[in-house]
Amino acid sequence: MITWKNEIFLPAQIKFVWEGDTAYQAADLREENKHLFGGEFSKIFSTVKDNCFVVFAGMGKEEKLDGRKFKNVVAKAARTITSYNIDEFSVDISALTKTFDDKAYFDVVAGVELGLYRYQGIHQTNQQKDYTVSVVDENNNSEKSAEYIAKAKSIADGMILTREWINTPGNYLTPEIFAQDITEKLTPAGVEVSVLCPDQLKEKGMGALLAVGNSSDNKPRLIVMKYTGNKHSDKVYGYVGKGVTVDTGGYSLKNSAGLMYTKGDMGGAAAVAGAIYAIAKNKLSVNVVAVIPAAENRLSNQSHIPGDVVTSMNGKTIEILNTDAEGRLILADAITYAVREAKVTHLVDVATLTGAVVGALGTVAAGCTTNDEDYLNDFYGAAKEAGERYWQLPLFEEYEEMLKSKVADLKNMGGPNAGTIAAALFLREFVEDKPWIHLDIAGTSQTEAPSNDYHCFGGTGFATPSLYFLAERNQEFIEQ
Ligand code: BES
Ligand code: MG
Ligand code: ZN
Repeated sequence: MITWKNEIFLPAQIKFVWEGDTAYQAADLREENKHLFGGEFSKIFSTVKDNCFVVFAGMGKEEKLDGRKFKNVVAKAARTITSYNIDEFSVDISALTKTFDDKAYFDVVAGVELGLYRYQGIHQTNQQKDYTVSVVDENNNSEKSAEYIAKAKSIADGMILTREWINTPGNYLTPEIFAQDITEKLTPAGVEVSVLCPDQLKEKGMGALLAVGNSSDNKPRLIVMKYTGNKHSDKVYGYVGKGVTVDTGGYSLKNSAGLMYTKGDMGGAAAVAGAIYAIAKNKLSVNVVAVIPAAENRLSNQSHIPGDVVTSMNGKTIEILNTDAEGRLILADAITYAVREAKVTHLVDVATLTGAVVGALGTVAAGCTTNDEDYLNDFYGAAKEAGERYWQLPLFEEYEEMLKSKVADLKNMGGPNAGTIAAALFLREFVEDKPWIHLDIAGTSQTEAPSNDYHCFGGTGFATPSLYFLAERNQEFIEQ
């Protein structure tokens, strides 16, 4: 837990220094020692100055800094200072707010929060560490500063919620528990949460979600989160997240290596829930509905099997060729629900959907596809603010052949190639012409070998801040 204050702690401090010929002076170095620290990007220099332990963090050249690099330096500095067993320190962000104004707060607060976060796990003894961090900002008065800290912290908290859910083992996070936990955490933030149980899913005709979810005794749920921040707007932003709490592959069973990673296939669900939490906390003037189909994909005598045909909520029939392609099935029904019942006007779906996207883009960028280039450009703007990388894959019409079935309207997998595109084309069948963006976060949702300093082993919180900033930039302020 980190407590944020905006009053000065002198015993230990982080200071940021831009790269330049005089950077060494900030660190009180003599000219002959200037090679020790010149404010180079990501360079850390620790020293004692006026009885205060100071960690100087090099920010590099101003024009080269972006949100991702920014958070990385902050995280590195926070890890350095806490590695000396210091649990109270201040961060002087005056050099940053001078250049970036209030925008610097998100990167600083998120950099510290995410850089110091560790999953506590399930241990006999509590491993929790507590820190107190104060922010020093000469360019904003203390009220403004407190407001910016609170706002930034809501977004960081949303990302940490996302990480926690991803890191929780599958037997501690069944669809039912996931639904309860979301209700408990999001309701106080101002989100209206409702949960559909199997009987209701059956009434709605959600044959695709039920086909997957019935493979387990831990039955499926549809978790619907609604935030109404602007009653005067007719726009409703729909965020749909894949919530497979356990993915064994079902009858198309994964091999032993694949079975080591049964948890974490609800990274998309965790991202949409974390985002709507932050949106509601910050009372954005926008309407958002997040929908999570939550299910376990297991092997039992109730499981669907390859060769079966299931009927989705929108009436389309689907031939199952591979039960490990379960994500698109449950998303299909959740998307139909979002469009027809929650009446969303815009759609983003987020899913740890295909191994193929990891092959294409690795763990640095998520894949995305769209039916509306303008909406995707808007999203790219949000992703830039969030400091996240996305890369578009094409939906060329020749690929459409891949999903044609001889016995049903669609089949649930294509051929051996272009797996991410096949999955996206499948989902497009359900969006009913709403502006739609699909995010495949299979490679970015969690990490074993972090490629960013603000990441650590496990869930990254990926997609949560981009979804937050997408809502932020789509706020409408209608005069009454
Ligand atoms: N959840 C997996 C995708 C995945 C793979 C996520 C690796 C993270 C890391 C998904 O349910 C799956 O198994 N997809 C199959 C689809 C295939 C059978 C068409 C895949 O990608 O192999
Ligand atoms: Mg699967
Ligand atoms: Zn899966």
